[in-house]
Amino acid sequence: MKPWGGRFKDGTDPLLERFSASIDFDRKLYHHDIRGSKAHAGMLEKIGILTASEKNAIIKGLDEIEKEIESGSFQFSAVLEDIHMHIETRLIEKTQAGKKLHTGRSRNDQISLDMRLFVKDELKALDEKLTALLAAMVRKAEAEIAVMMPGYTHLQRAQVVPFSHYILGHYHALKRDRSRIEAARITADVLPLGSGALAGSTIPLDREWVRKKLGFARVSENSMDTVADRDFVMDAVFAAAMIMTHLSRFAEDLILFATQEYAFISLPDKLTTGSSLMPHKKNPDALELIRGKTGRVLGDVFGLFAILKGLPFTYNRDLQEDKEPMFHALETASDSLAIMTLCVDGLTLLRHNMEKAAEESFMPAVELAEYLTIKGMPFREAHGIAGIAVRQCEESGILLNKMPLARLKDLSPLFEKDVFEYIKPRNALRVRKSKGSASFDEAKKAIDAEKKYLHL
Ligand code: ARG
Repeated sequence: MKPWGGRFKDGTDPLLERFSASIDFDRKLYHHDIRGSKAHAGMLEKIGILTASEKNAIIKGLDEIEKEIESGSFQFSAVLEDIHMHIETRLIEKTQAGKKLHTGRSRNDQISLDMRLFVKDELKALDEKLTALLAAMVRKAEAEIAVMMPGYTHLQRAQVVPFSHYILGHYHALKRDRSRIEAARITADVLPLGSGALAGSTIPLDREWVRKKLGFARVSENSMDTVADRDFVMDAVFAAAMIMTHLSRFAEDLILFATQEYAFISLPDKLTTGSSLMPHKKNPDALELIRGKTGRVLGDVFGLFAILKGLPFTYNRDLQEDKEPMFHALETASDSLAIMTLCVDGLTLLRHNMEKAAEESFMPAVELAEYLTIKGMPFREAHGIAGIAVRQCEESGILLNKMPLARLKDLSPLFEKDVFEYIKPRNALRVRKSKGSASFDEAKKAIDAEKKYLHL
């Protein structure tokens, strides 16, 4: 049974009914569908298609339907395919005026409208979650401003860094995602309604009125593009995928740092789980799930590309398959941001181990070479001498700071007693001066700037 079934003698095969029904997932759009319908009804009254009392009956009916859905009393059924048909059918049960609501409208522009309204709301909420995580990261950086740790390349101890600079590194990657969210919001901020099935309508729809009513920045330009276009979904899902990618890299670091091998941090109990067999285990499940779920969000991006590629102009039912990846990507990114915020707030630094790892390494070889460079030796030569010093230390099982000055002087007469102060990890963090470098001063400046940016 369909409200517009005049064309058909036979009903739909029950298998197709189940196969094509989207109501199980697109019911999430009920609020936005109702919002759009109310605006459309208002416009139909304005252009004389609905009387004031018809419009009022429609608004009243839609409000009741919203309450029915929210209270759980609304009857959903696969026969009615999608959220649009459910709401329209129920409205017509309530008022005959409901039969006029779909004037000048198609589900093709209606679904685009619902999704654009939904995406705009979700991106706003996502940005709030992201901002909360950014705030937690800045708070952590500030609380642990004096802690130093090794920075890694190739997962090898490379150069000493302040922990605050390290966490602000991940912060900046995530901060860039705010501009991707904003870009996606701008793409979504276009009113599609009035494009009809693909060609607009002979009914003199007032699109500008609807645009204002629903708070869109612009009205879409081309009716055919409008019903075929899912760029705004792609942009939103891509923004979510970038957030997930950044979270996943951060999660991976924290998972490593929480191992006994690193022992740099301890994760809050509430974000870890035990093992059913091994009593001593404390597993970083929350972070592992962020990493794992990232894979599926990347799948959402690729799945959407595959749906769109080669799709003939304009609307095709394939487009119904856009909703699940969109819901999944946005929900997963939102949940993952919230989990990561709990994690950052709740993690404890094992400062002693972090600093020991920074002290007990050959990382100061860099400063050793820079010491000679400042004294006039070409860097390539200084690099070579520092390398020899490291090899000699390794052979005698000592660190660079334990190398006798006499042996250093054998390598270069430029070495003086002050070299030992110069290569201390903490000294490097004081002496590094250039903008954005890993130093306590730069970290302090960055924290102040980001606190201002976040209004903290
Ligand atoms: N449920 C459909 C979708 O999500 C709504 C549009 C249906 N349009 C159509 N011509 N069958 O794409």
